[in-house]
Amino acid sequence: MKRILSGIKPTGKPHIGNYFGMMRPAIEWQDKGEAYYFIADYHALTTVTDPAKAVLFRQSDVPAHTELAWLLTCQTPMAMLENAHAYKDHLAKSKQVSHGLFAYPVLMAADILIYDSDIVPVGKDQKQHVEITRDLAVKMNTLYGSIFKIPEPSILPTVATIPGLDGQKMSKSYDNTIELFLDEKPLRKKIMGIITDSTPVEAPKDPTTSSIVALYRFFAPEADVAKMEADFRSGGFGYGDFKKRLFEAVWEYFSAMRKRRAELAADPGYVDGVLKAGAEKASSTANQVMERVRRAVGLRD
Ligand code: TRP
Repeated sequence: MKRILSGIKPTGKPHIGNYFGMMRPAIEWQDKGEAYYFIADYHALTTVTDPAKAVLFRQSDVPAHTELAWLLTCQTPMAMLENAHAYKDHLAKSKQVSHGLFAYPVLMAADILIYDSDIVPVGKDQKQHVEITRDLAVKMNTLYGSIFKIPEPSILPTVATIPGLDGQKMSKSYDNTIELFLDEKPLRKKIMGIITDSTPVEAPKDPTTSSIVALYRFFAPEADVAKMEADFRSGGFGYGDFKKRLFEAVWEYFSAMRKRRAELAADPGYVDGVLKAGAEKASSTANQVMERVRRAVGLRD
């Protein structure tokens, strides 16, 4: 049975790009093996997959992550981290970069290797981190014997980028996201705020370059998409009309999840219980691997 592992860093609210890029693929992976999904931080739980199918836990509840991170750190070349995109981006933006931020990929490698993970479902932006993980695992194996499994990333092919409100790729760093669990009014407002050109209502419009159509494709049945494309081409429909259709589709698409999320938010005891049980199961797996590693590096007989 394959072991699948991924983590979510709860900075800000999850948005549509996160959903299609990483969350939905991770949910699909649950049925193909033993999945471990964790919250890579202390923030409140904001989204939940089916707890019965995956071991859901909080990173900070399993201390072995940081213990392994130190052992990996001792074999991590500075140059490897200096080349990491995330670090370079931060450095370009601010002069103050903490050692923790610099070492971020090492902790992520520990997250992955501590569970003998086979598959790591992530968004494209995490590709380099999984490559660093693999390099470190190979290095450790060469040095200490085969202590780590070499994990494979699972990254969706880039058939479609999810456009944000301004037409660029949807990303928190561009401040152009549509969050998954907005209430009706703010969601409507966001979608109505999608940037369009000033083609008048009567004039034909190009559906192939419109981010409204590109987003609609993720939510609406094919026939509705075809109808929207035809209405773009024929003219006589304004962008406001298309945005309304998009709003309806997005609202409908997440309605069951929104309902379930509200139930969970109203029952924190249940959520705590799920995380506690997850931490126990995850700790037991992690401690076995950690014991193997401690022996291999000579910390134990
Ligand atoms: N770095 C990931 C992100 O920013 C989150 C993460 C932390 C992660 N540890 C992980 C993802 C291990 C997959 C596996 O999205």
